[in-house]
Amino acid sequence: MNVLVTGGMGYIGSHTCIQMIQSGMTPVIFDNLYNSKSSVLDCIEKVSGTRPVFINGDIRDKSLLIKVMKEHDIENVIHFAGLKAVGESVEKPLEYYDNNVNGTLVLVDAMREANVKSLVFSSSATVYGDPASVPITEDFPTSATNPYGRSKLMVEECLTDFQKANSDWSITLLRYFNPVGSHPTGELGEDPQGIPNNLMPFVSQVAVGRREFLSVFGNDYPTPDGTGIRDYIHVMDLSDGHVAALEKVGAKHGLHIYNLGTGNGYSVLDMVKAFESASGKPVPYKVVARRAGDIAECWADPAKAVTELGWKAERTLEEMTQDTWRWQSSNPQGYPSE
Ligand code: NAD
Ligand code: UFG
Repeated sequence: MNVLVTGGMGYIGSHTCIQMIQSGMTPVIFDNLYNSKSSVLDCIEKVSGTRPVFINGDIRDKSLLIKVMKEHDIENVIHFAGLKAVGESVEKPLEYYDNNVNGTLVLVDAMREANVKSLVFSSSATVYGDPASVPITEDFPTSATNPYGRSKLMVEECLTDFQKANSDWSITLLRYFNPVGSHPTGELGEDPQGIPNNLMPFVSQVAVGRREFLSVFGNDYPTPDGTGIRDYIHVMDLSDGHVAALEKVGAKHGLHIYNLGTGNGYSVLDMVKAFESASGKPVPYKVVARRAGDIAECWADPAKAVTELGWKAERTLEEMTQDTWRWQSSNPQGYPSE
C-alpha cells in the first residue's frame, strides 16, 4: 500500500511512518519542513531500516501533489500537515485558515485529479470544545474556541460535505486526544521550536535543565487536585491507530470518525509526578493563573475505535514518561540542525 503522508517529518507523522513500514506499507513523505528538520528522515531510516521517499513540498502546491501521487501510485493519503499552536492561531488566524483549511482543500482537489479516494485526516479533541461531560463519544456536539480549533472543525465539515457528494470515497477523521511520548529507541521524539506550548515537552525541558520551572496553569479547577485533566496517549499507540484505520476502513466507502485516546484522565500534577519518577529529576513548578481557553477535563470514550478498528491504546503512563525522557535526555537540543 503506497500512502502519501503529508506532514510526515513532524512529530506524529514520523512515528506513524515507522509503524507503517513495520506493517508493510510504503509511506511517501510530503512536507515543507516548516516545523521539522530534514534529519528526521535519517532517524526514520535508522529505526525502521527503510528510507522513505521524501518530497519537500507545500500542500498548497496542487500540481506538485498531483505529480507525486501519480509518480508513486498513491492509493491513500494520511494528512498530518498543518499548523498546530493554539496561541499563535489567535495572533495569525489567516495563516492558520490558509494552511489548515485551504491546504486541505487543495490536497483533496489534487487527490480527485489523481484519482486517489482514501483520506485519513488528523483532527483533534479540540473540536469537542468544552464538553458537557466525560468521557467523550464521537457523537458529542462540536464547537471551537480559537482559530486553530475552528480550522479543524471547518476541515471536518468540508470533508463531511465532500464525502456526502462523493460516496465512493473513504474519509476518516481521527480525533486525537493529547499525544505524548517518543519512539522507545529514543531516536525520534517531539522537538518543538522555541518555548513549548504543551505540557509534556515543557516538563521534559525543565527536567533536562533547559528551563527553570513549569508554570501550572491554575489549581482551582473542579478536579481532585484542582489542575486540568487530559487523556494523554502515547504517540506509538496513536501511530498504530493510523495503521489500523488504513487497514480497516481505508478502502471502505463512507465517512468514519474515531476518538484516539486511552479513556484515562491524568492531572497536570499526576504528569509531573510520573515524569519525576521516570527521569529521577526534580520538576520544580509554580502555580500561576489559568490559561485562557483551557477546560477543566477532557478524556475519550475510545470504545468505537476498539470495536470497529480493533485498536486500543496499550502503553502505560510509565512508558509515556520514560520514553519522553529517553528522547529528551539523549537529545537535549532536539534533532540536529541542518
Ligand atoms: P508537527 O508540527 O510536528 O508536524 C506537522 C508537519 O507538517 C511538520 O513537519 C510541518 O513542517 C508540516 N507542514 C506544515 N504546514 C505544511 C504545508 N503547508 N505543507 C507541507 N507540510 C507542512 O505537528 P504534529 O504534532 O505532528 O501534528 C500533526 C497533525 O496532528 C497536525 O495536523 C495537528 O494539528 C494534529 N494534532 C496534533 C496534536 C498534538 O498535540 N500534537 C493534537 C491533535 C491534533
Ligand atoms: N499546562 C500547564 N502548563 C504548561 C502547559 C500546559 O499547566 O506549561 C496544562 C494545561 O493547562 C492543561 C494541560 O497542561 O491542563 C495540557 O495542556 P496542553 O497544552 O499540553 O494540551 P491541551 O489539552 O491544552 O491541548 C492539546 C493540543 C491541542 C489540541 C488539544 C485537544 O495542544 O492542539 O490538546 O486535542 F487541540
